This record gives sequence, structure tokens and C-alpha cells, in this order.
Amino acid sequence: MDLELKGQRALVNGASQGIGYAIARQLALEGVRVAIAARREPALSAAKARIEKEAECEIVAIQGDIRKAEDCERIVAQATAALGGLDSLVNNDGAPPLGPSLAFSDADWGKAVDQNFMSVLRMTRAAVPHLKRAGGGSIVNITALSAIQPIVGFGLSVATWAGVIGLAKTLSRELAPDNIRINTLCPGATDTPRLAKVNEQTSGMMDKLVAEIPLGRIAKPEQIAALVALLVSPLGSHMTGTTIPIDGGQVQSLL
Ligand SMILES: NC(=O)c1ccc[n+]([C@@H]2O[C@H](COP(=O)([O-])OP(=O)(O)OC[C@H]3O[C@@H](n4cnc5c(N)ncnc54)[C@H](OP(=O)(O)O)[C@@H]3O)[C@@H](O)[C@H]2O)c1
Repeated sequence: MDLELKGQRALVNGASQGIGYAIARQLALEGVRVAIAARREPALSAAKARIEKEAECEIVAIQGDIRKAEDCERIVAQATAALGGLDSLVNNDGAPPLGPSLAFSDADWGKAVDQNFMSVLRMTRAAVPHLKRAGGGSIVNITALSAIQPIVGFGLSVATWAGVIGLAKTLSRELAPDNIRINTLCPGATDTPRLAKVNEQTSGMMDKLVAEIPLGRIAKPEQIAALVALLVSPLGSHMTGTTIPIDGGQVQSLL
């Protein structure tokens, strides 16, 4: 299926590894001109080189920390300058620490809000004028299944991503007249370096969670990436304001 993405321009955050990397790679393979961002320079350059080789294209790599307001603005400015505009933004990064919700200080909560919620708000605010200039565009937020089916110990993420879902739904209505769409994906356990780390930190809790997945397997990052490619494409252009689990059937509600 031709997703009609050739020549589009996209910024993918948190794209030096894991889900973000898979999204950037998939978009590049579809002919999208892609900018990627992350904090650690060596991993970012390595990701750029790998995608460039595989997709035979040029990737724009931008070092930055999406927890910082100034970096959000700079990343969007550098990406749009290098790509000559923007058609899609993918909000993705790591996640705050795990632990009992009430054990975290105000400062911890502030950091989690900056990382999960304010980054999406700031990136989106900076990107929207460029999307408008392009005649419309698409924003995809990567959150987690825990945002709609909370897990004990994931409170910092659950609460802040619930805010992202509310913001995205509101924005989908506010930005629809400008032909700008915004959708939120809620992946379940996905085979990335982060999952391996979480598994270590929780003494194998993720292994038990995997046993609760009806399909009996975790997702591959490429499976998240394929849905993002569809959502940002003209063929996905009737979808906005959605919150989509991609979880092997794990969510236990009707909606
Ligand atoms: N893997 C799973 O099972 C799973 C399931 C559900 C939801 N998710 C969510 O999906 C997202 C991606 O997960 P993943 O497993 O792909 O994570 P990952 O393997 O840890 O990759 C995270 C990427 O984001 C970058 N990043 C992290 N913090 C950043 C920051 N402050 N500013 C800019 N870039 C940052 C990382 O590079 P640097 O560290 O160099 O910045 C890396 O490129 C996370 O929000 C995660 O919670 C993951």
C-alpha cells in the first residue's frame, strides 16, 4: 500500500532508540524527510547513520532535552529550518521513574509534568504554526497503555499522560479547522531498551504483565511505527482525537 507520504517532512522526538527510532526509520523508508531528536549525542548520531544507510536518505539529527522549554522551541526551529517546513510531529521520549505515587516530592512531580505533559504542549505549540503554513498536518503522541489502564507504581506516568490524552482531545477540536489532526497511541509492553530496564527495576514484573497479554507476546517497535505511518499519511487523514491502545488485546474496557 502506498501511504502517499513521499516528500513529507516529520520531526520525531526520542528517536535514537526504541519506539521513536522505529517510527523515524519507518517514515524515512516511506520517503518522508525526517528530523530526529534525543539527548545523548553518540546514540543520536548512530541512529542517524543507520537510518540513512537503510533508507538511502538524509536524516537531520538534533540534540536536545524535551524536558527543557528552550530545547523544545529550538528542536522545532532547527527541524523546520533544515526540512523547509513541517507536516508531522511525533511526541515521544522516555518516562519518569517508577514508585508509589505518594512517595514522590513536588519536585519529582514537577519533573514528570515537564517530561510527559509540558513537552507535548511546548512541542505542539511550536510546531502548529508550521503545520498551518503547510496547509495542515498531523501530531501523534506516544503514551502508554498504563495511561488508560493504570499500573501500580506507574503513577507519575499515568497521571501526566492522562493530561496528554485530555489535551490531545481538546486540541483535536481546536485545530480541526486548520486541518491539523492529533492522535494518541497507548502501546503495551514493547520490545525496546526501556522495557529491559523496567523489567530489571521491577524484579521481572514486566514478565508477569506479558503473561496477561491475550495474544501472549509483546509488541515490536515496528508495529507501533506502522500505525504512526498510517496516522500521519493522507490515507489516515480522517482520524483525529483518537486514543488508540496497541497492546495485544490487554485493555479490559469497551472504549
Ligand atoms: N517499551 C515499552 O514497553 C513501552 C510501553 C508503553 C509505553 N512506552 C513509552 O513509549 C515511549 C518510548 O519508549 P521506548 O521503550 O522506546 O524508550 P527507550 O528505549 O528508553 O527510548 C527513549 C528514547 O527517547 C529519548 N529520550 C528520553 N528522554 C528524553 C528527553 N528528555 N529528551 C529527548 N529525548 C529523550 C532517548 O534518548 P536519550 O536518552 O539519549 O535522550 C531514546 O531515544 C516512552 O514514553 C515509554 O514510556 C514504552
